[in-house]
Amino acid sequence: MSRVYIFDTTLRDGEQTPGISLNVEEKLEIARQLARLQVDVIEAGFPVASPGDFAATAAIAAEIQGPVIAALARATEKDIERAAAALRQAPKPLIHTFVATSPIHMEYKLRKKPREVLLMAENAVRYARELVQDVEFSAEDATRSDRVFLADVLSVAIEAGATRINVPDTVGYTTPGEYYKLIRYLKENVRGINRCHLSVHCHNDLGMAVANSLAALEAGANQVECTINGLGERAGNASLEEIVMALTTRQDTYGLSTGVITEQIYRTSRLVSALTGASLQPNKAIVGENAFAHESGIHQDGFLKARSTYEIMTPESIGLHQSRLVLGKHSGRHAFREKIRELGYTLNDQELEKAFQRFIDLADKKKEITDLDLEALLKEEIVMVPESFILDYLHISSGNHTLPTATVRLILGERQMEEAACGSGPLDAVYRAIDRASGIVMQLESYSLKAVTGGKDALGEVTVRITANGFSYTGRGVSTDIIEASAKAYVHALNKLVHDRGLGVGTRQASEEGT
Ligand code: KIV
Ligand code: ZN
Repeated sequence: MSRVYIFDTTLRDGEQTPGISLNVEEKLEIARQLARLQVDVIEAGFPVASPGDFAATAAIAAEIQGPVIAALARATEKDIERAAAALRQAPKPLIHTFVATSPIHMEYKLRKKPREVLLMAENAVRYARELVQDVEFSAEDATRSDRVFLADVLSVAIEAGATRINVPDTVGYTTPGEYYKLIRYLKENVRGINRCHLSVHCHNDLGMAVANSLAALEAGANQVECTINGLGERAGNASLEEIVMALTTRQDTYGLSTGVITEQIYRTSRLVSALTGASLQPNKAIVGENAFAHESGIHQDGFLKARSTYEIMTPESIGLHQSRLVLGKHSGRHAFREKIRELGYTLNDQELEKAFQRFIDLADKKKEITDLDLEALLKEEIVMVPESFILDYLHISSGNHTLPTATVRLILGERQMEEAACGSGPLDAVYRAIDRASGIVMQLESYSLKAVTGGKDALGEVTVRITANGFSYTGRGVSTDIIEASAKAYVHALNKLVHDRGLGVGTRQASEEGT
């Protein structure tokens, strides 16, 4: 069976999802999980785009062992040098450089003639190869490029030293049949193509990113670029979990294997969703809430007689187990520590103690504590930015004949700031009061509330996205009290903002041409 290499670009193309921004700690946490998932390549960022992107790529390069670590660079010396600098500590660095090859991009975006683009590609790859051994060249907008010119550019890139070439469907325009033929054509017409990885990279504008990627693999591509949960620009990129599970479930058709540990898929999806604040549609293939749910009586009946009647893969194969009762009020620290280890989290003593106290508090309010509850609490403990502002006190008054009012007290170092505010509802009042107390006015861009498990006493998990001065931050909070969860999520986002300002690091700054 031939091996397909999984090139994950959640932290680069996925992070280009409108409204999403991850800080260094969050990217690092996702990279650790991608390493557990055993993807072959982690594209960690676009270092020249912002100091934050550079720092995250460098941190991932310094820590993550196993996968190749890639950094994106336009076909310029400055970009390539920044990428190489960010990858300095990576055991297996990969510079991914690109230039557009379609007539539309060359004429309107680059304002360059085809021969100039050809030269840019050649120079970029040659320069990158002076700095690292592994260089990928992408012909941006390949699927709307002239095939003969495309084959020429890719041949030149390989001659200049590219070890991987990529054929992106940048705007999600191609179709499975057309992409299959393009890959076959390139395999026959690009000089030296058998010496390097042939990669595909599909966007989902017409909802065909996964189908297109699979068609390309059938045509002989051996690397596929994709993101967790299909995150990415506009309609997103091809979804990693869908590609991997299609190859696994339909090995009879594809005859291809990957190195991915599929049992890590569900956890990776949830982590990415929690940290990006991008929740999943319930019917999302593989990882959506309903992906393994059987509603109709006929389906349930068949399923109970034989799972295979309506189930083509098991929930266990993606690491989705029935939520189990894990611990109770009387469980001690030892059992708690063991459970944390079993769930795959590593906390230091201080974090563990804090998580244990939160677990005890929760056990007082909620009868049954499941894996999902624990994971929700743990996710709050990991990837925390320093808690500059602490939500010390919260009181609300609300009802159907009352003007909603909130009082909050925030602590910042030695200072205590107490403020009250009214609002159109309790949440509005709380957020106004927090703005007043912190002295920082933030715009709430999105808000989502989800129950972690069923039951009236369920934990509520709130994710908010706020903007201030053109930068956006996500925050998460969990509590059995949804107003408290909402306030915690808002303060979490506020602390990220404070942290970034302190570091002088913004989230993504627009690059001149973008990607
Ligand atoms: O979609 C695209 O063309 C890209 C390239 C930078 C590979 O993301
Ligand atoms: Zn892309």
